[in-house]
Order: sequence, then structure tokens, then C-alpha cells
Amino acid sequence: MNEEMMTTETRQSANAPASPAAKRYFVKTYGCQMNVYDSQRMADALAADGYSATERPDEADLILLNTCHIREKAAEKVYSEVGRLREIKAQRKAAGRQTTIAVAGCVAQAEGAEIIRRAPLVDLVIGPQTYHRLPAAVNRALSGEKVIETDYAVEDKFDHLPAPKPAATRSRGVTAFLTVQEGCDKFCTFCVVPYTRGAEVSRPVGQILAEANRLAASGVREVTLLGQNVNAWHGEGPDGRAWGLGELLRRLAGIPGLARLRYTTSHPRDMDDGLIAAHRDLPVLMPYLHLPVQAGSDRILKAMNRRHTAEDYIRLVERIRAVRPDIALSGDFIVGFPGETDADFEDTLDLVRKVGYATAYSFKYSPRAGTPGADMADQVPEDVKDKRLQALQDLLDEQQAEFVRHLKGKPVEILIERAGKEPGLVVGRSPWLQPVIVDEKAGGIGDIVTVRITGTGYTLYAEPL
Ligand code: 5AD
Ligand code: SF4
Repeated sequence: MNEEMMTTETRQSANAPASPAAKRYFVKTYGCQMNVYDSQRMADALAADGYSATERPDEADLILLNTCHIREKAAEKVYSEVGRLREIKAQRKAAGRQTTIAVAGCVAQAEGAEIIRRAPLVDLVIGPQTYHRLPAAVNRALSGEKVIETDYAVEDKFDHLPAPKPAATRSRGVTAFLTVQEGCDKFCTFCVVPYTRGAEVSRPVGQILAEANRLAASGVREVTLLGQNVNAWHGEGPDGRAWGLGELLRRLAGIPGLARLRYTTSHPRDMDDGLIAAHRDLPVLMPYLHLPVQAGSDRILKAMNRRHTAEDYIRLVERIRAVRPDIALSGDFIVGFPGETDADFEDTLDLVRKVGYATAYSFKYSPRAGTPGADMADQVPEDVKDKRLQALQDLLDEQQAEFVRHLKGKPVEILIERAGKEPGLVVGRSPWLQPVIVDEKAGGIGDIVTVRITGTGYTLYAEPL
């Protein structure tokens, strides 16, 4: 799971101007990139059903909340968000207009019918594996039925991903996500994902290549392969051989127009030789790897059911760096897992010092109902978690600052993604995912150009070369 977008809320932007009579939908997306991708696919399915997007919930005939369940109080947040829609629904009703309120995503999958019991305002609850049934489910809700769509067969999983339309994709810019894998079989004892996203399933090679070709044909330059456990992806290649993610990346690297590839999120246990070799051989595979370790104490890693030791992780990082020395590492950390002592926490700091992260996401452990961690003895007091989180974040912040400091004065290749907020500037992205602001003379959107870094911080500033 990648954390980058865990705390952001994304509003789906309108792709096309709406005709006044058209049905409108409003989507609010919480959580990870997989949800962002799913929201786009749901938008495509709704567009095919005659809907157009709006950024105003009070204009929407369908309000869709695509939810995240990864950490604390996720369900509570959804209930209060739904509460805020009460007035909109009432006002629209007074004006003779119907409003369908739908809850999708991982909270929908985890809570199911409970959502409608607690929030009768909700008309439709739909889990991530059943999005292909969305238009039909909305029609059922419109005729007054309370609809719960959370049951699925594993083999249906990728049916919920209607292909993105080239025209719609073009309006989304030069970077795109592409889901290749869903679900997780790892069962880390803190995590709800194996329960909400279900068992690991890999999307077939043919579907992935077709979608990647369509994206490239519509002007996309960078594709990020998504999966809860993306490096567990496996499939059968057109050559009849069993492929791992490394082979898939090799094939994608040959698609004309695709200049950058990324993938997220990986489990250390599934970084196989083929994938490490892809980092060695493919210049288009960006030198950035999100490889969560969660903790540095073997005792805690065992209690978390991570199935690797701190030493295993460090050796793995050494092997990857041996073939791709410029790779930047990113990680996820949890402090205050049940039973974590000061000495265990010191082991986490030690591991961070040994590895050196370009960026990282760290969290206080929060018990999730239904996971083994929630029932463990020795839950760590909140104030101890607070102190440990602060100490860890201080260290990670130092490492991050160190990483960007080194870039100052250096030439860096960026992919120009969009116009800047200020006229005359454009925003690109470095190989290590940092936004880079530069004069538009550097190049146009979709170009890959080399610029010199002049200022560093969360955002980098650069001058054309
Ligand atoms: N408490 C705190 N952090 C968690 N994460 C997942 N579950 C929990 C939890 N119960 C973090 C992990 C994971 C990231 C996506 O969220 O670090 O890698
Ligand atoms: Fe959750 Fe662990 Fe699976 Fe990642 S690998 S999604 S943390 S169970």
C-alpha cells in the first residue's frame, strides 16, 4: 500500500462540459492511488451511462464517496461526511430532484449493510470488486431500492475495470495509473487490506498491454502500475512462459511513447531476481522504490507477521542498490505496535539510519477491528506512540532534507506534467517523484527535459539548461 495519497481527498474533475439536461455525478475520493484509479473507472462507466461530472455536490444527481479504511476512524469520517449531505439531499428534494448517495471503496466493503442501517440517507453501498455493476445498481437505487453490492467471485475482480476511453484519458494528462494486481494474501496483523480488498489476483497480461497501449496512444508518457501488493503480480506471457513483474515491465518498456514506468506498492518478500534485474536493465524504470518495512525489530516484525527480518530487508536494499545505485527508497513505518518496547523502537531508528530514505510515511499504530493486532495484549499508550512518532519523523525529515540538498546545482531530467499556478511556469517531476517548477521555456507538457536544480525543499526549483 502506498501512503502518498492516504490523507488526501481528491475531487474528480469534469472531463467534458455537461449539457443542461444531463445527469450529473460528484465523486470524492479518499485514500490510495488505487482509489483514484477506481474513481476514474467509475467515472468512465457513469459517462457511458449518460452522466457527466460536476465539482458541486448540490448539482449532483449521484454523490459517490470512494472511501478508505486503512487507519483510524475511517467509518466515523464517512458517517459525518454523509451527515453533511443531508441538507443537500433535502434541498434538492424540495426542488423536485432526486439525489442518490452512494458509498464505495474499502469502508463500503468492510461495513456493508451496516452503513445503511446507521445512515439511512445512503442509497447504495458498493465494494471495490463490484464496480462493474455500478450503473445498474444506481438505476435500482433510483427506483427506491436500498442496494448493497459487496458480494463477488474472485474471477470477477477485473471485470470492474472498464477500459479507459482514449479521449477521457487525454484530458487526464501525461501520467496515468494502471491497476495490474489487487488484493493481498500477506495478512500483516495490523492491516485491514486482506479483508477489504480480498485475495491477491493478477490482471491478465493481454488486458494490461492493451490498456498501456491505449494510454500511450492518447499521449500518456508515464505509467504507474498499481497493486496492493504489486510485486506479487504474475501472469502468463504471450510466449506461454510464467511472467513476473520484471518481465511485464520489460514488455511495457518497449511500448513507443512510454518514457517512464513506476510501480507501487511492493512487499519485500516479493522482490524477486527478475524485478531487480529490471531495475538494472531498464532506463525507463524510474529509480524510485516504495518498499515498506514497517519496523526494525525482528520481534515486532514477527508479531506483525511480516515474514522477513530487518537483516533480510537491509540485504535486499543492498542488492537493489548494487544494480541501480541512484535508486531512492521510500518506506512506511508503524510505531507503537502492541508489545513494542523502547529497545524495539531503537531498532527501527537503527534500520532507518542504515538504509537511508529519500522519503517515508510513518504512523502510530491504530487497532483495526477484525485484525489480530487489535486483540493483542500490551497495547502501547498513546503518549509513548506520540513521542516515538516524533523521534522517527525527525530522523526521516533529516534524511529527506539531506536527499534533496544533494540535488542542488545538479542537472535532473524531468517530465513536464502541467502548467504552473503562475503564468510562464510549468511543473515537472523528477525521477524521484518530487515536483519541479521551471520556466516554460524548458519545454512543453509531455516533454522530458534536463534542467538544473536551483532551489530545494518539498518542491524543487530549476532553470532550463
Ligand atoms: N495502524 C497504523 N498504520 C497502518 N498502516 C496500515 N494499517 C495500519 C494500522 N492499523 C500503514 C502501514 C501501511 C500503510 C499503507 O498504512 O504502514 O504500509
Ligand atoms: Fe496490508 Fe501487509 Fe498486505 Fe501491505 S502486505 S496490504 S500492509 S497485509
